[in-house]
Amino acid sequence: MQIATTSESSTPIHQDFIHEIELGLIAPCASISPKFLYDPLGSHLFTAITLLPEYYPSNTEKGIFTQYQDQIAEAVGSGGTLIDLGAGNCQKAESFFHSLKPSNYLAIDFSSEYLLDSLKKLAGKYPHIAMQCIGMDFSKQLIIPDAIAKTKRTFFYPGSSLGNFLQSEALQLLGQIKNQANDGSLLIGVDLMKEDSVLMAAYDDPLKVTAAFNLNILRSINSHLGSNFRVEQFRHTVKVNHAENRVELYLEALEDLNVVWAGNSRAFKKGDLIHTENSHKYTIESIKALLKNAGFEKTQIWTDPKDYFAVIYAQ
Ligand SMILES: C[S@@+](CC[C@H](N)C(=O)[O-])C[C@H]1O[C@@H](n2cnc3c(N)ncnc32)[C@H](O)[C@@H]1O
Repeated sequence: MQIATTSESSTPIHQDFIHEIELGLIAPCASISPKFLYDPLGSHLFTAITLLPEYYPSNTEKGIFTQYQDQIAEAVGSGGTLIDLGAGNCQKAESFFHSLKPSNYLAIDFSSEYLLDSLKKLAGKYPHIAMQCIGMDFSKQLIIPDAIAKTKRTFFYPGSSLGNFLQSEALQLLGQIKNQANDGSLLIGVDLMKEDSVLMAAYDDPLKVTAAFNLNILRSINSHLGSNFRVEQFRHTVKVNHAENRVELYLEALEDLNVVWAGNSRAFKKGDLIHTENSHKYTIESIKALLKNAGFEKTQIWTDPKDYFAVIYAQ
C-alpha cells in the first residue's frame, strides 16, 4: 500500500513559525501556540496522556464511540472520504473504519513525522482504503487539496481539539470545514464544563506526564528558534478560568533568567508565566450555537452518563 504525503502548498513554512514564536515570546504576557507542543516527542507524550486514568476526555470519548457506534454509523452513513483533523496516532479514526467503511482516509496533523509513522502502520492493515496524509497547520487556513475526492467528505475532529482555539478562531475553522465538506458533514468530540477537581487531576496528573508534555514545548521552541530555554528553570502550572470556561496551561519561571536566540532575547522574572494552551469547555447549548453560526444547521448528539463529554454529528 502506498501512502501519498504532503502537498507542497500546505507544508508549514518554517520562517512563518519563527516569526509567530518570536511575537509570542516578546509580548508582555508571553505565550506559545499549543501546536508547538506537538513535536515528535510531544506527540508521543500526548499519546501517553491519553492512557492516564485521570485524563477523562480520551476514556470518555472512547466510551461514547463504543456505546453508540451503530447510531453514529447510521447517522454518518458509509463510504466516501474520512478526513481526520489533528489525527495524531490515527487510532480514533481506525475505530470507525469497520462501521463507516471509508474508501479514502485523509489524515492531517501539524506533527507530520509522527503522523506519517502512524499512517504507515495503519496502511498495511487496511489495504482496501486509500490513505493520504498532510502535514498542515490548520490554525491559519484549512485547505483540502483538489486531488482529494469531492464526493462525500466526512470530517472527523475528535479529542476536543477544537477547545484549543478561541471562540472566533473555532468559528473560522468550523466555517472552513463546512465550506469544504461540500454535501458532507462533521463528526466532532468536545469536552463539557465540569468541576475543578476533575479538570485539575486531568491536566496535572500525579505521574507528571502532562507536566513533561507542557515543558517539552520549550525544547520544541529551541529546535525552531535556536533559543536556549532550559526546562529545569520552569514548572508546569494549571488554572481553571471560569470566566472564559477554559483550562489554561502555563510554564512558570522558577528563577530570574534570560532566554536568547538569533538577534533577540526575553528576560523572565521568577514567577513570570508563559501561556502554552487553552482548553475551552462547552455546554451542549454553546457548542450547538457555535456549530450553527458556522453553518451546521442539524446536529445529533451523544454524551456519557456523567455528561463529561459530547460527540456531535453536524450537517
Ligand atoms: C489533543 S491532540 C488529539 C489527537 C487525536 N486526534 C486524539 O483525539 O487523540 C491534538 C492533535 O492535533 C494536532 N494539532 C494541534 N494543533 C494543530 C494545528 N494548528 N494544525 C494541525 N494539527 C494540529 C496535534 O499535533 C495533535 O496530534
